[in-house]
Amino acid sequence: MKKPYLLLALVGLIAFPVHAEGNISAKQSEVMNKLLAIYAEKARVEKKEGKGQGVVSGKSFTAAVGREFFLVRRTWQRHDFTCSGCHTDDPRKEGKHIEAKVPIKPLAPSANPERFIDVQKVESNFTAHCMDLYGRECRAYEKGSFIAYLMSVK
Ligand code: HEC
Repeated sequence: MKKPYLLLALVGLIAFPVHAEGNISAKQSEVMNKLLAIYAEKARVEKKEGKGQGVVSGKSFTAAVGREFFLVRRTWQRHDFTCSGCHTDDPRKEGKHIEAKVPIKPLAPSANPERFIDVQKVESNFTAHCMDLYGRECRAYEKGSFIAYLMSVK
């Protein structure tokens, strides 16, 4: 008797998706807001330590800063790198790994319900990609701004 109920529940989900903001699911909204709170706190600490370039204390993250962070090219170890190199200029689109050439599902939560549903997963991706690109962890200010940008992409 379990299966028909499950099927009904699935049909219900498709017919009445729960949307918190735009096309972002309630779960994504919860995880992303949690990340924003974590990064806001860390950004304050980083600023005090003199590491938080661009942090304006008391100001919340802005999508424009996050967009720039995503698109801006940086040269590191003589290579030209950008987040959008793998994720494309439009985070709603499917990307492609610059080296492995494998497709990467869209980053924008509005385009991919599997993104930003796990704080730990987001953090480990940030760590890996920031190390790849900058040879360091990204600042809380950069990560927070990036999340704000992705939340603004409808
Ligand atoms: C060399 C290719 C490459 C570059 C450059 C790259 N990424 Fe990624 N990124 C990936 C791949 C592959 C995944 C998918 C992993 C998965 O689907 O589990 C991913 C996933 C992510 C996720 C995971 C979101 C989630 O919850 O699933 C975040 C956040 C992310 N990237 C941020 C960035 C940022 C920020 C930059 C620039 C600093 C960046 N990436 C640059 C390849 C890249």
